[in-house]
Order: sequence, then C-alpha cells, then structure tokens
Amino acid sequence: MEDSFVEKAKQVLENNFQLGGFTIPSKNLYPFQWKWDSGFIALGYAHYDIEKAKKEILTILDAQWDNGFIPHIVFHNQSDSYFPGPDFHQSELSPFSPKKYRTTGLTQPPVYGFVLEKLYQISKNKEEVLIFIKSIINKVYNNHLYFYNYRDIKGEGLVYIYHNWESGTDNSPLWDDIWEDVDSPAYQFVRKDTTHVDSSQRPTKREYDHYLHIIEIAKKYYYNDKGIAENSPFLVQDPLFNSILIRSNQALINLYKIIGNETKKIEFLINKQEKSINSMNNKLFDEKLGVYIHYDLRNNRPLPFISSSSFSPLFCGAPDEKRSKKMTSVLIKKFGGDDKYLCASFDPTSKRFNPQKYWRGPIWINLNWILYYGLKRYKFIDLANRIKQDSIDLITKEGFYEYFDPRKINFDSKKRGYGGNNFSWTAALFIDFMKQKK
Ligand code: DGY
Repeated sequence: MEDSFVEKAKQVLENNFQLGGFTIPSKNLYPFQWKWDSGFIALGYAHYDIEKAKKEILTILDAQWDNGFIPHIVFHNQSDSYFPGPDFHQSELSPFSPKKYRTTGLTQPPVYGFVLEKLYQISKNKEEVLIFIKSIINKVYNNHLYFYNYRDIKGEGLVYIYHNWESGTDNSPLWDDIWEDVDSPAYQFVRKDTTHVDSSQRPTKREYDHYLHIIEIAKKYYYNDKGIAENSPFLVQDPLFNSILIRSNQALINLYKIIGNETKKIEFLINKQEKSINSMNNKLFDEKLGVYIHYDLRNNRPLPFISSSSFSPLFCGAPDEKRSKKMTSVLIKKFGGDDKYLCASFDPTSKRFNPQKYWRGPIWINLNWILYYGLKRYKFIDLANRIKQDSIDLITKEGFYEYFDPRKINFDSKKRGYGGNNFSWTAALFIDFMKQKK
C-alpha cells in the first residue's frame, strides 16, 4: 500500500507541474512558484526524473535578483486565485529585481545549498549532475553572500527575516507578541485563500493587515535592505531560517571541495559558518526551555516559545551532544506522547496551540523531513524513524494534504488533513521518505 502511494505522489507532482518548467505547491491556493517549496519538490523529482529536478531549480534561480536575493514567489503566470499578487508586491520598485519576471520582495529559507547536495547524493550519474551543479552553484553562493552582506546587521553570523512569510512558518503564535505592538491600518482587500480553504484554518483578517503593512513599508523603501532593517516592525532572527542557511553553507563547502579550485569561497563560508554556529548557540539557545528560540531584533527580546523550528538546529549540527539530548527529551515530553503524531508545529502544551489552524499547531511534512535528518545526524534513530513513519501513516491514511492535525485522542473532526490537497512538497518528501532505509 505504501509503495502504491509513491506512484500517487508522482501523479500529484505531475499534475502540479506547469508548462513554464516549474511546479505549483497546490492548485488554486498557491498558483505560482514558491522558493522553498520548489527546493523540496526538486528532491522528490530527483528520485525518478532528474531533468525535472534540474528544471525546477533553474526556473527559480532564473528569477534571482542582481544583488543575489531569491524571491519567495515568482509570478511566472497569470492567476486571479491568489492574493496578494504581483500588482501588490511591485518588485519593479527595486533596482535589483529582474526585468523578466515579477516577483515578491520577500524571501524564504535558503534551501538550495542542501538541495544541490542531496541531488548529488541521490543521482546515479554523479558526473552528469556535477556538470549541472557547477553551472549554477555560484548563484546559490551569491544568495548566501546576500544574506551575510545585507541581513546580518550586527555581524553576528545570524541573519534576520523582516516578514513572517519569510520564515515559512507564516502565522505561528510566535508572532502574536510582535503584532500586539504594531499599529497596522485596517486595509480593504479581497482575500482568495479563504475561498479555497475554511477560514477557521487560515490567518485572521487582522493578521493579514499586518502582513500587508510590512510589505507597504518595504515598498516605501524600494525594497532596500537598509531601509527595511531600520523601519520594519518585524525583524527576527529565526532558528529555522538560520539552521537552513548553516546546513546549506556546509553543503556548498562540500560541493566546492568536490568541484575544486574554489579556495576563496570555501574560506569565506567556513569563516561565516563558525560565527553563525557560535551565535546560534550563544544567543538562540534557551537553557530553561532546553531548545532554540527566536529573537526579536526590533524589540531586543527573545521570544520564549517552543515550536517545531526550535529543534531544527539538529539539522545543521549546531547543538553539542548534551544539548541535543535535552532537546529530544523536550520533543518527546511535549510533542511526542502516544496521544500524538509527530511533530506539531507549535508547543501542544501551550494555550496558543491550535491543532487545525495553519502554522499554529498542525504537522507539516517539510518540518518533519528536516527533523528526521537532524535526528538521524545525532543518531536518535528510533525517534527519527518515528517521525518518518508518522509522516508516511498520515499521508497514506489522509492523503497528500498541506498540513495534518497531530492529535490521536480528543480528536473531534472527521478528517485530519487540512489546507491544500494534492500538495506538492508533501508528495515530494513522501517519495524521499520511502527511499530511506530503516
Ligand atoms: C500564503 O499566501 O499563505 C503563503 O504561504 C505566503 O507565502
């Protein structure tokens, strides 16, 4: 049964593949190309159609800005099923944005370093895939340069995000405290997401006001990083975003070593790597909670909440052994009893937890995938396998949904899968999970 689902997963990807050479996350709800989605999607393709994997990556990188920035959405195509679209974002305000496509002026976690390395590992024809990697790796490196040059304002090796959509964990309860102090206007707009998905599972109107307000501020400064850093009410150092950057730094170092003749770039990355890991450990680890947390740079305060992002530093190897044990005991105690599937996106013991609402509690397969590889890296094999099996069980029982209710008991709903159905990264990462030996 699980094996026949691999064929279904491929079908999901094929159905979401577009003529322009990219794959939408899900019909209607997300009708364009998203940055981190495409990275995960490429990993699914890599297992059975390496050409499509390459195409997916080439297409997103084609929309890279002149300053190295890679946008979170590329509007290759027309669609009136999504808000806010290209006319709202107005990427053309920035002198760095591409002429060829309209995009957003927001980014998402820098997955492409580790995606390229995985592509190399998965591929049977290493020589051929290395030719491809050689042809584009400097674009990914330039994206890392962008982050360290413009987003690490304190020179700590930790980069900031200026919008909750940059985190990928869009409406996490983490941001509630930030919104409390932000006086956004009440905008008039027509949302499209709530015509595709039950509005009780999506962010509120007030949250959307904040989301739009920050983009308006960025536009006022023509998407200039300095202007944004000085004026955005949202300025956060996110452990998930930074863990992905660090993991991707390492991947670039590994790949440049295979390619050869890139000593300067390797030195630069090693240098940043040390700084980033130190700051991650000194600034973002909360001894009392036993996990990594977010830091609100605008208000100079830690955000002391546990989310699935809190465990993501396992993925980049930041914690030492003692901390890794502490983290997994928190994971098991709060997120992983017999009454729950792993891994809720927000602390199930918190009052802010909501098992059905977007990033306020449900399980996301991409975070499970990151935690799976992180736990394996630290040899927590049973826990890693449990996350993998929970993901497989949820998908085979419920379908290729965007997110899943983690509760096994007190479950008061007819279904467990929510958000977009036939969701691309759920399908793509299912394929990768199924290829992993136990
Ligand atoms: C959305 O529209 O909810 C997207 O996740 C933003 O990137």
